[in-house]
Amino acid sequence: MARLYFKMMKIPERTKVAELLSRGQEGAEVSVKGWVRTKRGNKNVAFVAVNDGSTINSIQLVFDLQNFSESQLKGISTGACLRATGKLVASQGSGQRVEILATDVELYGGADPDAYPLQKKGHTLEFLREIAHLRPRTNTFGAVLRIRHAMAYAINKYFNDKGFVYLHTPVVTASDAEGAGAMFRVTTLDAKNPPLTESGEVNFAEDFFGRETSLTVSGQLEGELGAMALGEVYTFGPTFRAENSNTPRHLAEFWMIEPEMAFYEIKENMDLAEDFIKSLVRYALERCMDDLKFLNDMYDKELIERLQNVCSAEFVRLDYGEGVKILEQSGQKFEFPVSWGVDLQSEHERYLVENHFKKPVILTNYPKDIKAFYMKQNDDGKTVRAMDVLFPRIGEIIGGSQREESLEKLLLRINELGMDAKTLWWYLDTRRFGTAPHSGFGLGFERLLLFVTGMSNIRDVIPFPRTPKNAEF
Ligand code: 4AD
Ligand code: MG
Repeated sequence: MARLYFKMMKIPERTKVAELLSRGQEGAEVSVKGWVRTKRGNKNVAFVAVNDGSTINSIQLVFDLQNFSESQLKGISTGACLRATGKLVASQGSGQRVEILATDVELYGGADPDAYPLQKKGHTLEFLREIAHLRPRTNTFGAVLRIRHAMAYAINKYFNDKGFVYLHTPVVTASDAEGAGAMFRVTTLDAKNPPLTESGEVNFAEDFFGRETSLTVSGQLEGELGAMALGEVYTFGPTFRAENSNTPRHLAEFWMIEPEMAFYEIKENMDLAEDFIKSLVRYALERCMDDLKFLNDMYDKELIERLQNVCSAEFVRLDYGEGVKILEQSGQKFEFPVSWGVDLQSEHERYLVENHFKKPVILTNYPKDIKAFYMKQNDDGKTVRAMDVLFPRIGEIIGGSQREESLEKLLLRINELGMDAKTLWWYLDTRRFGTAPHSGFGLGFERLLLFVTGMSNIRDVIPFPRTPKNAEF
């Protein structure tokens, strides 16, 4: 039996499909391990495409049916996992450089064709969201997840090359200082029967941390503590917002990259944001072309062109006030009316980027009333040195600002907003002791991925999306 023979012959070590297709030597004896994507053939020969996740491309196994019994090939159907060994030969027409003339096969696990949900191709993205546990096995999600990985690597590399320190800010926090959105409470108290104070409130002093705690909405405040010691830091971690926003651009759990830099003013902050995004997009174009081509062909014919354009475009830098004027004079009917003082909606942001300027826009000097307490106040008393980076198809991809370094002004603002300065004593200490001009921003990782992959729903660029009423897997 072929199998026994090969056991004695010693099975060659596994080579990944990416390696075989790009550098595999014709004539070599090789083993491949992976999941069957398709099987077809006739009574003389079977063709089996196998993918192992190392590349969007599958390798073709060719089984000469004279050398294999029916029972040997029986469990080989879409979704099954196997090892195959054979000779690497020039491909006759599978679209790839090489294929494997199989001499031996070992089935690790079958996948009943009547039950396997990915038996057929061409499922909708909506359907795939319902089987998020299996969708990484599709070409689309393989491509998206490899690009996601490449971008995470490129982010760490970018900051490392620039001498930034990766600061791991906490996920559990007692401060809601950002005010960026509703928070998820973290507690070990008995939900049915919590301890109460004399006045009948839940007594969080008896909770695990001895106080009320939540999942973080941003690592920025801790990032500022780091920047005031290490100079340039960044956080890159999961972030949580309990808003009930069921949109294609919001997740309840998303990842955010937040650099924070001592001695940067708003202009340097903008320069960094622009250079950072461009360098990430460039990295994707250099290292993820196979996956990008696939997504370009399948979903978005302008994807690669759009990515190239962003790399060469000079981002527009515009005052919020100017932006509002452009919108008011656009003659465009917006769902939300626009005037000085309103928070811009994504329809407004996209109008500026897609219709008016046709390139990314960095909007600055927002009204202070629609921005967070920590932003540096301008001398006009009305605006703050905020900067939002607006992107085609996405709207806001980055939010950031120069920070208010004056203790006095910061305290005034905190009081004005009715916030409790006492709970922020640790943050305010940065302004008490050796304060300095500093700036930072937050890039939504999944918003970046929406742009880079051309996918249109944020649920499709994170492996296991967390959205209202959705956390099963
Ligand atoms: O504008 P945001 O709320 O800014 C902050 O949290 C600041 N503390 C950042 C900083 O200065 N360090 O959020 C920053 C970015 C947004 O521009 C957006 O890309 C993303 O985070 N984001 C979300 N992404 C997915 N789902 C959500 N619910 C998001 N909320 C914000
Ligand atoms: Mg924002």
